[in-house]
Amino acid sequence: MSDHPEREIDIIDLKVAFGKFYALSGVSFFADKREVLGIIGASGAGKTTVLRVLTGQIGPTSGKAYVGGHDVTKKRKLISLLVGYVPQLEHLSLYWDFTPLQNAQFFGRCYGLRPKEIEKRSRNVLEILGFDEELMTKHVKKLSGGERKRVSICLGMIHDPPVLLLDEPTTGLDAHLRHETLNYLKRLNYELGTTMVIISHDLEIVDYCTRVCLLEEGLVSQFGTPDELISTLPGHGESLLVILGSRSPAMLDLLGEIPGVKYMARVGRQSVKLFVDNPSQELVPLIETLNEMKIPFDEVSLVEADFFDFFQVKPFRQKDQTGEVEV
Ligand SMILES: Nc1ncnc2c1ncn2[C@@H]1O[C@H](COP(=O)(O)OP(=O)(O)OP(=O)(O)O)[C@@H](O)[C@H]1O
Ligand SMILES: [Mg+2]
Repeated sequence: MSDHPEREIDIIDLKVAFGKFYALSGVSFFADKREVLGIIGASGAGKTTVLRVLTGQIGPTSGKAYVGGHDVTKKRKLISLLVGYVPQLEHLSLYWDFTPLQNAQFFGRCYGLRPKEIEKRSRNVLEILGFDEELMTKHVKKLSGGERKRVSICLGMIHDPPVLLLDEPTTGLDAHLRHETLNYLKRLNYELGTTMVIISHDLEIVDYCTRVCLLEEGLVSQFGTPDELISTLPGHGESLLVILGSRSPAMLDLLGEIPGVKYMARVGRQSVKLFVDNPSQELVPLIETLNEMKIPFDEVSLVEADFFDFFQVKPFRQKDQTGEVEV
């Protein structure tokens, strides 16, 4: 059993090697019950590998992974009941000539569920996912991309697992459908209390997550709640927004030289956020400095930092002194 029974998912110093290559080189993170954990990283970072360990498809080279307090390598059968899995490419899991309800029957039977039970369960989940009678009884091949994603989410939930793992549920959808899908997932999480792990390339999932893990080349570069991560920035969650008359590379260089400025994040086309240790105390001195340096500006104000600022400045900190990066 895990040392932390309150954790629905607990991953401790997990390493996975394929031959000599380590896809995961020692990662640790967790999610408590009912949380939505986002795993964000570029292609090849090791995201799917984490899910394959959690579903028991591959074994760890070393380290531990627990679901519901159970070691995934020791309780394979139990784990398959505890975990629902929505794969990266939904077309691999759906029968296109079947309706969503018929797909559910097929998948439900693999778990030994009875047809009536499957019907009730799939209708309940599909309703939460916004399906009416017409959509539930339409061939999958005639559904839109977003609707198909939601059918594959329903299949992952068919056996009523307390944990749902979703491998890039928003990839390939347009911005509207990405948010729609995430909203439906949040609704499932709220109504059924399902703990979720959502994998994405994209930061936009952060707004839907209670905890975030950033993976880079098989290592965790950041892990925490969105607020915890933001509060590690200088200013502890606050920054100074400077609306400039115009913004040029030379001006950005000048701003970066202002004493006390630790990071700089670009906002829109005309503004920057400056990260200093005590933003409220630095507001007036900053205005004086900008005047002295003859940097034209329209406004300087104290604003909250957000996760997009965090991501702009933090992981790329090594790039230069100010942490300022292209966006
Ligand atoms: N079975 C395997 N044999 C050898 N290498 C593998 C295997 N599975 C994954 N890898 C390698 O491990 C690394 C991580 O793969 P993984 O699928 O976890 O990445 P990912 O973060 O999910 O990427 P993507 O966003 O493209 O899906 C990649 O470099 C991949 O080539
Ligand atoms: Mg992947």
